[in-house]
Formats: sequence, structure tokens, C-alpha cells
Amino acid sequence: MDLADALSRLDVELTRAQAEVPQAADLDGLAGCERTLLGRRAVVTDVHEQIKTFPPVDRPALGKAVGAFKQVVTALVEQRRTELADVERTLRLTRDAVDLTLPPRGRPRGHLHLVTQVQQELEDVFVGLGFRVAEGPEVETDFYNFEALNMPQAHPARSMWDTLYVKLGQPEEVLLRTHTSPVQIRVMQDQRPPIATVMPGRCYRRDTLDARHSPVFHQIEGLVVDRGITFGDLAGTIEAFTRAYFGDGRTARLRPSFFPFTEPSAEFEVTCFMCAGSGCGVCSRTGWLELGGCGMVDPNVFAAVGYDPEEYSGFAFGFGLERMAMTRYGVDHIKAFWDNDLRFLEQF
Ligand code: DAH
Repeated sequence: MDLADALSRLDVELTRAQAEVPQAADLDGLAGCERTLLGRRAVVTDVHEQIKTFPPVDRPALGKAVGAFKQVVTALVEQRRTELADVERTLRLTRDAVDLTLPPRGRPRGHLHLVTQVQQELEDVFVGLGFRVAEGPEVETDFYNFEALNMPQAHPARSMWDTLYVKLGQPEEVLLRTHTSPVQIRVMQDQRPPIATVMPGRCYRRDTLDARHSPVFHQIEGLVVDRGITFGDLAGTIEAFTRAYFGDGRTARLRPSFFPFTEPSAEFEVTCFMCAGSGCGVCSRTGWLELGGCGMVDPNVFAAVGYDPEEYSGFAFGFGLERMAMTRYGVDHIKAFWDNDLRFLEQF
């Protein structure tokens, strides 16, 4: 092999490198090319090793050619390596991509329970009429639930409320409130007249579940105390409230009744939602549905909180929120409020 042979062998290899390296299909193929062109058995390695057998005048030229060959081929390989790495990266990204275009599956959003909605709406109506809102405890004492409301021990009216007692203190001293009326007492103890307050909350009775009774239910209580409050104020408030809440075309009426904490007492009824007053099965042909009780605060109740009944008078009312919702939305069984059947709840 003389100098011309050696140079032409390198030339052939270079042409081959220029053809093959840019065509290498992947990184493995490229590594193969690199081995053939620059590895231990490559032409350039052979030429390099033989330089020492050449006449000294030829050695520098040959050394230069070998160096140039290695430099050019290495550059070609590196360029292709970068290209292939890019291609593979793009491929991998495409393959591993997370498809964010799927339709989103969000969690369904809930809403307030119908009874809570009714409570909040009623609070709004009463606040609009000038009332404040107060709350009291669900676990009460005999004093607030009965005694201060003019029902002393063994008063027959106590049996109107089937009481659930809590094992605390003296027997039958601590109980689950059977109505929201005890909150009236707490409000009167806390402040002086004028008072205009509504008191919503949960109540408990040892009732058997039927279409209109549940052992757990909600009431809203109302209390107005000032100088010169009359039964006319009570009737006017009930009527204003009925129109504001049920809409025009519905009206309220009061029927004489009895409650130990009011005198006189009345039952508060509204036009039947089903028949608009003409009489049907829902209202037992009367055209009216009973919502709750009301009356003028009994002087004994004022005495229990230290108000002078000669100076102040007042009225009170209390009605069931479930009953209210049933009346307004035509719900025929109170159990629907506790079943948590979404098909029912989603309607409101
Ligand atoms: N607390 C009574 C009940 O649960 C309802 C009631 C009647 C409340 C007359 C009152 C009232 O404030 O004046 O049956």
C-alpha cells in the first residue's frame, strides 16, 4: 500500500460515510455505522496503524488525512445522533401523551336540602318584615321546654308532646326539645322588648312515622313583644307572611285552638295547594291546610321571664317546616325529606 492507495481507501470510506450515516434509521443502526467507520476493524484504524511502515516523507500527509477523516466522520455521526434523538423523543412524546381532550367527568354538585331552602327563604321573608333570627339548643331542660311555657309538672298539656328524655340530671329533667317554643324564653331572658324574632330549628317527638309526622322535624317559631301589641298585629303578620311566602291568591285563616303558652290561641291555616280552596282529598274537603299554632303570649309566660304583663303584650307562632314544604310543593309524605333519594331531592 503506497500513499495514493491509502488516501484513496480513505476517500472511498468517506464517500460511504456520507451516504450511510445520514441514512441510519435509528440509534442502534447509527452505532453500527460508527463501529464500521471508526472502530477497531475500520479502514481508518488500519491505515492509522500502518503509518509507521510508510516512508517518513509520506507520514505527515497520511497522518493529516487520517485526522481529517476521523473529524469529518465523527461530525457526521454526531449530527445524525442529534437528529435521531430528536425523532425518538418526538415519537416517545406522542406515544406517551395523555389525551386531555377526553370529556371531563366532574363530580356532580349538590345543593341545599329542600327543608334548609325553606328555612332560609322563611328567614328572608321574616327579616323583610323586620324580624331578627335566633337559635337555641336542641337538648333542653324541662324548665324551658315546659315549665316556663306555662306547663308546670303534671300539667295535662304536656302529653300533647311525646317527649324523648336524655339520661342526664334528675329523671325527666333533660330532654330533646319537642318544639322551638323554649327559644322564646331564652330570647326574652336575653333581651328586653321590643322583640321581633324568628327561631328556626330541629325538634324531636316520640311520634310514629306517618304521612305527616316524623320523630325528627323542623319548626320555625316567632315572637313579637312590645307595648300595645294586639291580636290584630298577629293576624296581619300571618297574612303578610302568607302572601310573601306562598304568593298572592293564597290566604290565611285563624281558628280558635288551645296552647298553654298563649291566650287566646289559634290554629293557622292556609288555602290548600291542591284545590286552591275548593276542597279536595288533600285538605279533607275543607279547602284549608293547617300549618301551625299561634296566639297572644300568656301572662304566665311573661311572669316566668320577669316581664310585667300589665306593661307588655305580645304574640307568638310556631309551625313545621316540613309541613310548609309539603304544602307549597305538594309533597305527600314527610318521609321523602329523610329518604335522601336523589330523584326526589334533585327536583328542588
Ligand atoms: N309549640 C307549638 C307546637 O309545637 C306550636 C305553637 C303554637 C307555637 C302556638 C307558638 C304558639 O309559638 O303561640 O305545637
